[in-house]
Order: sequence, then structure tokens, then C-alpha cells
Amino acid sequence: MKLLITGGAGFIGSNFVTHMLQQHPEYQIINVDALTYAGNLKNLESIENHPNYTFIKADIRDVTAMDEVFSKGVDVVVNFAAESHVDRSILEPDVFVKTNVLGTQVLLDAAKKYSLTKYVQVSTDEVYGSLDVSGLFTEETPLMPNSPYSASKAGGDLLVRAYHETFGLPVNITRCSNNYGPYQFPEKLIPLIISCALADQSLPVYGDGLNIRDWLYVEDHCTAIDLVIHEGVNGEVYNIGGNNERTNIHIVKTILQELGKPESLISYVQDRPGHDLRYGIDPTKITTELGWKPKHSFETGIKETIKWYLDNKDWWARNQSSEYQNYAARQYGSRLGDSL
Ligand code: NAD
Ligand code: TYD
Repeated sequence: MKLLITGGAGFIGSNFVTHMLQQHPEYQIINVDALTYAGNLKNLESIENHPNYTFIKADIRDVTAMDEVFSKGVDVVVNFAAESHVDRSILEPDVFVKTNVLGTQVLLDAAKKYSLTKYVQVSTDEVYGSLDVSGLFTEETPLMPNSPYSASKAGGDLLVRAYHETFGLPVNITRCSNNYGPYQFPEKLIPLIISCALADQSLPVYGDGLNIRDWLYVEDHCTAIDLVIHEGVNGEVYNIGGNNERTNIHIVKTILQELGKPESLISYVQDRPGHDLRYGIDPTKITTELGWKPKHSFETGIKETIKWYLDNKDWWARNQSSEYQNYAARQYGSRLGDSL
């Protein structure tokens, strides 16, 4: 199989490239990534010399570049490439629409032109909007995105659906809950809290810290997508989640306890505008129809993740880059007295 992975230098994409080369070493893997602030080829050092792995630096919005990639022969595409951070989408929605909607359309056109056997769109539970205290997201839950990020992901999902209905493109959409694990850029909650706590900096908790996310260890997300590529029924959506709902403040306190750092580092700051209260995935469809099961409990996954960040300080020192410092100043400057 010739498998094109877009966004394979990001957090989940790079874990997925490594997973696929380990599980299917005979597959040819092409990784296309524009290497934005979130892309990092260091994530792929362990497999960069694998004979069946090729990296191409290109933007999914670039029609000519994508045509060149697809024209060399691709069987399956898995699209991870996206702008992925909600807070950045509040500051600058423009690039979210361009990459997450228009970029998806460019890939869909190429997949149609070259008659791919499968197009998998890696999406998010955030397209469903926010849950109250009860209920779970199923594949039938209406799309009600609340942030520019989730709205742009929903836009991409609707195009994928339309290419299936209109052109018969063999597609799947996966909607996963919040991921955590190695190689997550330290702007997202878990790596941000670990890196700030290690530096004895203030830990910015939005609002009252009682918002709930449903956490999945990244390797479990990778096994689910692997299964969808091979067993997914064309046109179907699959929700992915491991029933690990936690409040944000629980996550922060767990990390502090693991690191032996004081709770006095916690700083409750101004809430995120439009902050979704709760996400919770009902994974019944993928577990019963495709036989997927997560391997990691939250308790073991978070310990492994903290250990990884402790062992790989050089990797996340990128949060010292000027790009990140500029973003952090805009994002947290007026919320926190401290610089991050
Ligand atoms: P990430 O921000 O870590 O990585 C995104 C990657 O896409 C980066 O390598 C970046 O360079 C690349 N990219 C961005 N714009 C591009 C473009 N125009 N052309 C080519 N490459 C481009 O994101 P992530 O957390 O790994 O998320 C990957 C996918 O999974 C996204 O589609 C996201 O919506 C989805 N998702 C993420 C989570 C999560 O918790 N992180 C949960 C569910 C779904
Ligand atoms: P995040 O990791 O940005 O993922 P998402 O918004 O896509 O779920 O945030 C997870 C939760 O943590 C979310 O409820 C917002 C909250 N949060 C904070 O309290 N402080 C922070 O500095 C960040 C980045 C997030």
C-alpha cells in the first residue's frame, strides 16, 4: 500500500507515521507537511532513514504541489494536516479556514482525480459543540461548533461527506477526543502545564477549571485510525474515545502531584471566550463494529507522558522560540502577570 499522511510532522501525525512503519513495514509511507510552527521533523528521527519512508515539505492548499504528490501513485490518504489550537483560532481565524477547509478540498479533489481507494479525514469531537453535565457525543449528534477551530474542522468534515455523496469518494471521518502523549506542542493543556510546572512558572487555568475533556493516549488514537483505514465502511463516521473524562483542574493537580510541585503555582485566569464546558465520546460504534479497544488508562498514560517530557526537555525547549513567545504574549499577556 502507498499511504500518504498529511501533517505527519505534527503531534498525532508523527506518532501515526511511526506506528504505521512499525505495524506495516512493507507499506510505502509519504509524509507531506508544510512544517508550520507545529511541525517538527525531530519527531520522526527514529524512522527518517526507513527505506519505505519519504518526507515532502509541501502545503495542502497548494494545488500544483498536491497534484505532483498524488500523480506519483497513492492508494490511501490520511489527512492530519490542520491548524489545531483553539486559542490561536480565536486570535487568527483566517489560516484555520484556509488550511482546515480549503486545504481539505484540495486533497479531496486530488483523491477524486487519482481514484484513491480510501480518504480518511482526521477530525475532532469539538465539531459537535459542547455537552452539558450529562449525555455523550454519538456519530448522530448534530454538528454545533463553537470556536473558529471547530467550525473550520466541521467545514472540512462536511466537504468530505459531500465528496462521498456526490462523487462516491470512498471516505471515512474519525472524530477523536483530546489526545495527549509524546511530541505534543507545549501550547496545549497537558504539555503546557508540565513545562511551566518544571520551570516553577504560573499555571494558567481558564475560568474555574471545571471544564471537562475526554482524554485519549495518542497511541490509542493511532490504532483506531489504522483500523479505520483497513476496516472502515465507506461513508461512515467513527467517534474515538476511551471514557476518560476529567476536569481541567484535576489534570493540573495530577501533574503537580507527579512532579512534586506545589498547588500554589495554579493561577486561575480569564476564561477562554466561548469555552466549551464538556466533551464526552460514546465509542460504541468503533468498539462494536470494528473491534477497537484502547490499551492505556489515563493513570498510566499520564505517568508515561510526564516521564517523556522529563526525558526530552530539549524537544520542548521550542517554547523558547520567538514565534511561541509572541503567541504566548498575545494569549496570556493580559491574563497573567508572568511571562510564559
Ligand atoms: P498539530 O498542530 O500538532 O500538527 C499539525 C501538523 O499539520 C503540523 O505538522 C503542521 O506543520 C501541519 N500543517 C498545518 N498546516 C498545514 C498545511 N497547510 N499544509 C501541510 N501541513 C500543514 O496537530 P495535532 O494535534 O497533531 O492534530 C492532528 C489532527 O488531529 C488535526 O486535524 C486535529 O484537528 C485532529 N485532532 C487533534 C486532537 C488533539 O487533541 N490534538 C484531537 C482530535 C483530533
Ligand atoms: P487544549 O489543550 O487547548 O485543548 P481543547 O481546547 O482543544 O480541548 O485545552 C484543554 C482544556 O484546558 C480546555 O478546557 C482549555 C483548558 N486550558 C486552560 O485552562 N489553560 C490553558 O493555558 C490552556 C492552553 C487550556
